[in-house]
Amino acid sequence: MEICMNLKSVALFGLCFITGFLSACGGQNSNTDVAPAIPTQLSISQALFEEKALSASGQLACASCHTDDRAHADALGTTLPLGGLTMKVQGFRSSPTLLYLETNRSFRFEGGQAFGGFTWDGRASSRAEQAAGPLLDPSEMANADAAAVASKVRQLTYFKDFVSVFGLPTSPTDNQIFEKLKQALQTYQQLDPDYLLFNSKFDRYLDGNATLASDEFRGLNLFNDENKGNCASCHISKTGTLGERPLFTNFSYAALGLPRNDQIQANLDPSFFDMGLCGPKRTDLMSRTDLCGQFKVPTLRNIELTAPYFHNASVATLEQAVSFYATRDLRPELWYPTLNGQIQKFNDLPVPLRNNVNMTRPFGQRPGDVPILSAQDVADLVAFLRTLTDDRTAPSGTPLVKR
Ligand code: HEC
Ligand code: HEC
Repeated sequence: MEICMNLKSVALFGLCFITGFLSACGGQNSNTDVAPAIPTQLSISQALFEEKALSASGQLACASCHTDDRAHADALGTTLPLGGLTMKVQGFRSSPTLLYLETNRSFRFEGGQAFGGFTWDGRASSRAEQAAGPLLDPSEMANADAAAVASKVRQLTYFKDFVSVFGLPTSPTDNQIFEKLKQALQTYQQLDPDYLLFNSKFDRYLDGNATLASDEFRGLNLFNDENKGNCASCHISKTGTLGERPLFTNFSYAALGLPRNDQIQANLDPSFFDMGLCGPKRTDLMSRTDLCGQFKVPTLRNIELTAPYFHNASVATLEQAVSFYATRDLRPELWYPTLNGQIQKFNDLPVPLRNNVNMTRPFGQRPGDVPILSAQDVADLVAFLRTLTDDRTAPSGTPLVKR
């Protein structure tokens, strides 16, 4: 948490420095050398994204869990985010990166397969709708209702700027403020260029401006090879038909059968299971037991920065995350506990639902088989995945996706 705070101060300082927008710093930094800039939708919405005063504890901003220099995912050194009124309530899902969500759409089924939506289970239809979740969630920013949020917004030093820049009526109602706040938080994710940088080494390689090292190149081939990693079948790596850069997700869903994470407070209750599409956070598909265990395929862009991995933060490093694909079925004892001589495979799902777990390549091997992915292959895949990290000090690449 300490590290998180330090990073956040750095980020805030950067914001003041770059935009000269003093109220973004809560008025605490009296840097009189910087002339106040005209507030813009970006400066106001970024300030709101970094605004701890919007939480019941006064200690939690969107940016606390979606940290600026960790691709807007969990802060370095945290496992699962803490929140609530006294900052002691733990959520049971890891904070995903917020980058590269621009072309994601609302949740739907296509040919029986689930696609789209926001959060790990797709229950929010847009980023504006998603923003209401953390603002009101008792384990996150913990506001009682929209009116409680609105009264906090009214007290911000830059409330008047928010009203004028986002075109609210001069005496807005609580609901108008809440709705506009949600929109502004989405606007921030659309206007900050970091959210669609497309300037990683891999992008430069696609442009013909960089060469991949031999291990990175081998990793790319393993990633794409249907008989090897087969990773690209879910984490799309090919340029689209209109030249759109790959996002390393098709926004579909899969059940990977991850190990249960004992660090999650909710998991102290052995009857508690986070089953993604079929609940408990999402409630409209509870009867679809065939979907239990499925979570959204995340982008792998900037994956190097977004530890811990998977929806339940069960894996600490990128090497382990890739190893999971290589050895889940070959050497399950590495991933699951043994009880009475029996390996508790897929122990984060109730026993009757464990056959929902995906068995296609690279999964589905048996103990003793010749590994589809060797230790060297895993290292090469990791080397390749590290080429997907954007350079925040360089200009954007050519995204060719609609902003
Ligand atoms: C306490 C930590 C925490 C805070 C504070 C927080 N988030 Fe999140 N965020 C998460 C977690 C955890 C998820 C995944 C939730 C789920 O799957 O149910 C998430 C998911 C999201 C997503 C969906 C990403 C995707 O891939 O679909 C968006 C967008 C988002 N948050 C934006 C925000 C905004 C805007 C705020 C401030 C209003 C905010 N978050 C505050 C932890 C947090
Ligand atoms: C069947 C579809 C599918 C295939 C094939 C697949 N993945 Fe995934 N991947 C997912 C899903 C779904 C998740 C999120 C699962 C969860 O958290 O429950 C994920 C998550 C990940 C993560 C963690 C992301 C994060 O933000 O925490 C990494 C790393 C990853 N995959 C790498 C790979 C690699 C490397 C391969 C090939 C060896 C691969 N994936 C093959 C569907 C797939």
